[in-house]
Amino acid sequence: MKARKIVEEMDSYVPGKSQDEIASDFNLNKEDIIKLGSNENPWGPSPKAMKAIQDEIKSINRYPESQLQDLVKRIAEYSGVDTSQVIVGGDGADEIIDVLAKTFIDEGDEFIVPLPSYMYYEYLLKQYGAKPVYAKWDLDKNELDVKSIFDSVTDKTKMIFLCSPNNPTGTLIDKEVLVDIASKNPDVLIVIDEAYFEYAEVTNKDLINEFDNIFIIRTMSKVLGLAGMRIGYGLACDTIIEYMHRIKPVFSLTRLSFVAACNTFDDKEYIAQSIEKGIESRQYLYDEISKIDGLNVFPSKSNYMLIDIRETGFTAAELALELMKKGIIVRDCTSFKGLDEYWIRISICTLKEDEKFINILKEVLN
Ligand SMILES: Cc1ncc(COP(=O)(O)O)c(C=O)c1O
Repeated sequence: MKARKIVEEMDSYVPGKSQDEIASDFNLNKEDIIKLGSNENPWGPSPKAMKAIQDEIKSINRYPESQLQDLVKRIAEYSGVDTSQVIVGGDGADEIIDVLAKTFIDEGDEFIVPLPSYMYYEYLLKQYGAKPVYAKWDLDKNELDVKSIFDSVTDKTKMIFLCSPNNPTGTLIDKEVLVDIASKNPDVLIVIDEAYFEYAEVTNKDLINEFDNIFIIRTMSKVLGLAGMRIGYGLACDTIIEYMHRIKPVFSLTRLSFVAACNTFDDKEYIAQSIEKGIESRQYLYDEISKIDGLNVFPSKSNYMLIDIRETGFTAAELALELMKKGIIVRDCTSFKGLDEYWIRISICTLKEDEKFINILKEVLN
């Protein structure tokens, strides 16, 4: 039995490794493993969310809500937009990207993604018969090569993915650049991925009132501490949101995710602290890594940072393996298109874990 031609030709997506996988592969204690591979919130979820999940468990024999009004209201408030400008996804921001593709992509359409960037856009859009066209991030200047975006546009371009802060470089895209791209390409959907916007304290969400071709992606997996509950959302003009609601899986958000999400948005103190501690950890890691010979670390506006390790003599796969043996998970970026085999990405941890990581990193490099 053959699958669809597109599926036959596809490779699986390679996510960061989990603590369970590393613990069993290297015979380590799960609790001792420090995870700097997947850009999560290391301080745990909001206590209010945990309590709400416990209280909700007795109701999981019932289907979840489909309209999610209480959550949509909270997201609209948190984001400063109207409820009609919000859509929620139950497999995180990844579901939002999937619904975007199902809503807007016809076979043969092109989408532009500057490399390196989040690889899941390509993985999902290809499933609908769309073709990637690669623009680029200028790694020497550590900024988006804006000309490469304009040069990549053809009459088949349907979407341009612009991640800000960009994963994995940690860099922001200037609002004027986004406005320029959106206004010169009115028939192309400009998808601005703000999965990490809280760490940059910068958003472009106001552009959805000016442009009917701008879509903002957000997630609860990062600052908001709910990666395991899989909740994402999108912000755009009413027309886009209405189209997407025709396609979106009706019950994709579980009851437990729903109550966890609502209660996290109500926990303002948790959110403020997650941002503050995240920025503190980022600064600590950046300062310490900058002092290590042979490592070239990019300044970051997010909760991770990209490190060029070529001067150490290790490839990313070798260094990641040596660290893994000592219970440290980092992201070997070899699978990111646009990067060679000498880049790793690390994410923030608690300061205690950060210190332990820095010591082990020095030990391995020496
Ligand atoms: C830039 C970017 N967008 C979207 C996502 C997907 O997030 P979620 O966990 O909500 O699916 C990620 C996850 O790492 C990401 O880095």
